[in-house]
Amino acid sequence: MFSRLYGDIEMTRKTSRREFLKTSGKIAAGVVLSGLPAASASAAAKPEPTDSANQSTPDRAGYTVFSAGRIGTMSVKNRLVRSAAMIAAAANGRPTDEYIRIYRDLARGGVSVIITGFMIATRADARYGRQIFVYDDGYISGLERFAQAIHETDGDCRLVAQIGHGGENVSPSGIKWPFAWKSRGRALATDEVDAIVNDIADAIYRVKAAGFDGVELHGAHAYLLSSFLSPLTNQRTDRYGGSLENRVHIIRAIMDRAAKRVGPDFPIMIKVNSNDNAAGGIGPDNFPALVNEIVKTGVAALEVSGNDCLQEGIDDIDDEAYFFTGAKALDVKTPIILTGGHRHVDHIEKLLNTKEIEFIGMARPLIREPDLPGRWRKGTGADRAACISCNGCFGAIMQGKTAYCIQIA
Ligand SMILES: Cc1cc2nc3c(=O)[nH]c(=O)nc-3n(C[C@H](O)[C@H](O)[C@H](O)COP(=O)(O)O)c2cc1C
Ligand code: SF4
Repeated sequence: MFSRLYGDIEMTRKTSRREFLKTSGKIAAGVVLSGLPAASASAAAKPEPTDSANQSTPDRAGYTVFSAGRIGTMSVKNRLVRSAAMIAAAANGRPTDEYIRIYRDLARGGVSVIITGFMIATRADARYGRQIFVYDDGYISGLERFAQAIHETDGDCRLVAQIGHGGENVSPSGIKWPFAWKSRGRALATDEVDAIVNDIADAIYRVKAAGFDGVELHGAHAYLLSSFLSPLTNQRTDRYGGSLENRVHIIRAIMDRAAKRVGPDFPIMIKVNSNDNAAGGIGPDNFPALVNEIVKTGVAALEVSGNDCLQEGIDDIDDEAYFFTGAKALDVKTPIILTGGHRHVDHIEKLLNTKEIEFIGMARPLIREPDLPGRWRKGTGADRAACISCNGCFGAIMQGKTAYCIQIA
């Protein structure tokens, strides 16, 4: 039932940043989990990370991490972004009170930008009603109530809708990703791709009408847009495939169409894989060139991720920020949000001070501690996020439950 959701992503169990680089271009052998429950079970016996030396820290008002920034026309109060996380709390594709409560807790907790979980823009892609749908104008009113609640909670918290296509039954070229969790969809005809472009642009119009501050295109994690960007899975011969320029054409077409619907100033960012973790796909050799082409489409920011996005066992600093190498290789003016494995505020501060990236994306640490940005800012509690990266929250959505931290339940 979750074949198109994050709940069934089988990821390498523990791949440190160094090992990950070693495995770029191929799947890490022999360490693929078959589902999250195993991950959760392994985590249950794991001790909590301690940071006893850092239980009392100073107010961090002067830190770069708590300085203001900008994403396109959107002013942003600090550098901590809630990366998209599907919380499976919607009903019939609409926000529920529970859904809104979870996001209000995040807004109250001090994060500067909340990127929602993946919203569905195409009717044929809408099969799981605990996700948010945005393929019809009828969904605008529920989203409006949601956006209002967030802005009432914190007028400086920016709300960004992540929009894309699951790519469960359709694909660019009918080529299967080498991951058991990803089925092979049939190849889309050119006019079908045009229709998806229009659906996504219409969805962007709807979330803007509902009062959202921006959009993020989901161009990562082997979903449909990322399958168009990857040379492994896009071997089309029409305008949507073949050359690097053509692989990026779907993004260019969405950006152009969206600009006609919402104007050129509405911030539209994109999340991309810096590494597909699959031979012939995106990796260190071709990621910078891909990004150079993507930024020409006018995206307001680029969130750097990878197919191996949910790494476990982030036990020491060296395991953190596992996509930094990909981000560091870029030379673009577009702001970079680096996501994946951030756990220590001082490490985050150091990363930001390299000037290689401008923002930090976090998902799991904010499921466990929605108030983490605020407490880091005040200097209360440990410097380390309490999340132990066991993926139990992810296992919860796999079982049809709303995402929650199994370590504090
Ligand atoms: C429960 C859960 C749901 C997720 N849903 C999405 C999603 O809808 N879209 C997306 O791009 N990433 C999704 N992710 C991945 C996160 O955005 C992020 O890339 C990943 O968790 C690594 O960051 P972290 O170490 O801060 O958790 C999800 C992660 C979790 C744990
Ligand atoms: S939020 Fe909780 S359940 Fe999720 S990975 Fe972190 S510790 Fe595990």
